[in-house]
Amino acid sequence: MPDRPATILFVGDLVGGLGRRTLLALLPGLRERYEPTFVIVNAENVAGGLGITPKIADELLGSGVDAITLGNHAYHRKEIYSYLDDEPRIVRPANYLRSQPGRGHTVVERDGIRLGVVNLSGNLFLRAGRPAFTEIENVLGQLEGAVDHVLVDMHAEATSEKVGLGWYLDGRVTAVVGTHTHVPTADARVLPGGTAYITDVGMTGPRGGVIGVKKEQAIESLRTHMSVRFETSADDPWLNGVVIRASQSLRADRIEQVLAPWEPSTATMSGP
Ligand SMILES: [Fe+2]
Ligand SMILES: [Fe+2]
Repeated sequence: MPDRPATILFVGDLVGGLGRRTLLALLPGLRERYEPTFVIVNAENVAGGLGITPKIADELLGSGVDAITLGNHAYHRKEIYSYLDDEPRIVRPANYLRSQPGRGHTVVERDGIRLGVVNLSGNLFLRAGRPAFTEIENVLGQLEGAVDHVLVDMHAEATSEKVGLGWYLDGRVTAVVGTHTHVPTADARVLPGGTAYITDVGMTGPRGGVIGVKKEQAIESLRTHMSVRFETSADDPWLNGVVIRASQSLRADRIEQVLAPWEPSTATMSGP
């Protein structure tokens, strides 16, 4: 198989309309700066903080996002169910029950380069019908020979599961990126076998809240243990992502974090 270089921009969980607007505002600048072959976005929280709708998915895909990954909020909005079955560029965790709507992996192509995009859910503290570590073997078997690169979005609560999967897949996929906690970790690196890895990419949305929720409401809930209505914060939008560069098929050379604030008034990108 000839080597086909690729640059992948992966953006962490979009939270609410603010997360969507932050991505769309910063994407042109990020394209100029990093020249990604592919842009992949986790959007499990994009519809008002929970789930995704067909209209929003269409808008993201229409803006040049190559594929969308999801997670435990995939089925929050009923209107997305048939869309998940019909639209090949959106994936929910592959290790969900086979009876649940949608698919767990897809292949997107740009400039003759084929990228397999796989979504997995952790099995600790999250409801996933089947084990991530065995289902990934099934998916990689199906992708073998059909892709130049593979990116796995491991949507999981526990750091141990994500670190474990990174080591398990080292040398077999281009990248394993963790999502779900909405807080970026400081461990981005290329593992010895050539797989780019990070435990959590973080989120794209309001850094001034509590993983997306208005901080006053989250604190009230934590303080009183009573039922509190949660709304998405609008405070201090940031984009959290990673850029993975690969000069050989299924092997990464570099992974770097993108942590960029968005100032809606000036609409310019600053920061690294
Ligand atoms: Fe999320
Ligand atoms: Fe999640």
